[in-house]
Amino acid sequence: MRTLVIDHPLVAHKLTRLRREETSSATFRLLAEELVTLLAYEATRALVVHPVEIRTPVAPCTGVELADPRPIVVPILRAGLGMLNGMTKLMPTAEVGFLGMVRDEQSLLATTYADRLPHDLQDRQVFVLDPMLATGGTLIASIDLLLERGARDVTAICLLAAPEGLARVEAAYADRDVTVTVVTAAVDERLNDHGYIVPGLGDAGDRLYGVV
Ligand code: URA
Repeated sequence: MRTLVIDHPLVAHKLTRLRREETSSATFRLLAEELVTLLAYEATRALVVHPVEIRTPVAPCTGVELADPRPIVVPILRAGLGMLNGMTKLMPTAEVGFLGMVRDEQSLLATTYADRLPHDLQDRQVFVLDPMLATGGTLIASIDLLLERGARDVTAICLLAAPEGLARVEAAYADRDVTVTVVTAAVDERLNDHGYIVPGLGDAGDRLYGVV
C-alpha cells in the first residue's frame, strides 16, 4: 500500500480551520469540498489516459483523454457524501457509485447497509471517499467489496488518518496483487478508546450535517 500525505500550505490551512470546534457546519462543508479537490489533484496523478488527435485554431496536435472504462468515485455514506462535490468538480466525467457502511460504536465493526455499485469493476480505477481513516475497519470492508467485484486499483481519499488504521489497511493488502493507495491531508497521533482520531476533528458526519 502507498500512503501519500499531501504536504501543502493550503491543505494545512484548510485542515486547521476544519478541525476548529467553532467551525460551523456550513463552513465545514465548504472547507471539506475545497480540501478534497486539492487532495484529488494528487490522488488522480496515475489516471489512465489515451492519446487523441485534435485541432487547435492554429494546428493539429495530439492530446490525451481519460480512458474507458471511466474511473468511478465511491463516497462512503454518510460522511463521504460531503467529499463528492469536491471530487466531481475535478473529474466531472467520472461515474459515481454509493456504498453505505455503518460502524458499530461498541465493536467498531463495519457492516454494509447500501450498495449502489456496478457488479463488474474490472479495469476501473476506483476512488473511495471517506473523511476519517480511523480503525481502518470501514475502509477495509469497502475495499474488499470493490476487489470482489474485480477492481484492482483503489485509491482512498481521506481528510485525516490514524496510524493504527493505516497499519491495518497496509497489513490487509500486503500480500495481494492489487494497488491500494491512501491519500490524506494528515496522519494524526492516535485513536482514543472510542475509536476517534486524536486530535482529529470529531465526528465528520455530525460536523458536516450539524447533528451533534
Ligand atoms: N469517524 C469520525 O467521524 N471521526 C473519527 O475521529 C473517527 C471516525
